[in-house]
Amino acid sequence: MTSPTHALPLADQHGRVARDLRVSVTDRCNLRCTYCMPAEGLPWLPKPDMLTDDELIRIVRIFVGLGVTQIRLTGGEPLLRRSIVDLVGQMAELRPRPRLALTSNGVGLDRLAGPLAQAGLDRVNISLDTVDRDEFRLLTRRDRLHDVEKGLAAAAEAGLTPVKVNAVAMRGVNDHSVADVLQWCLDRGYELRFIEQMPLDAQHSWDAEAMVTAEEIHTLLSRRFTLTPLPEEDRGSAPAERFLVDGGPETVGIIASVTRPFCRACDRTRLTADGQVRNCLFSRRETDLREPLRAGASDDELAALINGEMWVKAPGHGIGMAGFTQPDRPMSAIGG
Ligand code: 5AD
Ligand code: SF4
Repeated sequence: MTSPTHALPLADQHGRVARDLRVSVTDRCNLRCTYCMPAEGLPWLPKPDMLTDDELIRIVRIFVGLGVTQIRLTGGEPLLRRSIVDLVGQMAELRPRPRLALTSNGVGLDRLAGPLAQAGLDRVNISLDTVDRDEFRLLTRRDRLHDVEKGLAAAAEAGLTPVKVNAVAMRGVNDHSVADVLQWCLDRGYELRFIEQMPLDAQHSWDAEAMVTAEEIHTLLSRRFTLTPLPEEDRGSAPAERFLVDGGPETVGIIASVTRPFCRACDRTRLTADGQVRNCLFSRRETDLREPLRAGASDDELAALINGEMWVKAPGHGIGMAGFTQPDRPMSAIGG
């Protein structure tokens, strides 16, 4: 179904308009987080299926023309795309200039933070679930905590601030040490946000019972810190519920993506590394742009395909409801 021609660009049938584009630039990763990938990794996308830099920039330019104001580069691990600095540089030249952010696991950022900031990157979100070396190794199946620490320091040094840290708590793995992660981030001036684990693992082994809920995280943090909720109005389309820590000014965010979904305020749209538009992380469908683009489609034709995909965005993800089916692609192939 295509959108009616009178609809706003990037609008859906439920009154939302996308402004935030998440671009997955690769499905590969150098970590193997247990909530995301199997130990042996995944069959990566074949090179010919991936958008080239020129194709990717062309599609992003069309999105900006449709009203996207913020672009977040993700993966997999986006720093594994060799042209990442150049891609950022080209996106910084788009007009109106979008805000540019990157979600990374932090490995390799010590070398790239400076060049990325120079190229026009505005902010980073680094995924770090524990500051305990053994827990990190268990959770990511790699002994790289030290690299992530160096990456975070380099990001702060390069002015990619506020440096945000995303953490997922897993029962029996790192749930007992969430307050240590907060203290660690407070000591270094990083802004921490916890995210409920979503059913996006390649192994399809997500289990509602095992999930550490936002409420539990709040309880665990409250044993060591006084959390004061910030007013809801400050939230906008941002999914995190934020709290002042011990009176502030530092804050911590808790994202109840599963137990209190923010779908009603969602302003996101997604482009995968192989050129598919997705209207939601949990969508069971996508629209291919790569083949039409390679067959010579015009910008207007590609824009119509994008709008058509956004128009049919579901009102909510429906996790936990009867009929919910996990998407076939894992998080690493969709983009966080
Ligand atoms: N649930 C919640 N967050 C996830 N991430 C990866 N997989 C999941 C999941 N199943 C996080 C990563 C990173 C961001 C891209 O998404 O830890 O912070
Ligand atoms: Fe890599 Fe991110 Fe998946 Fe971890 S969660 S394996 S860092 S893509």
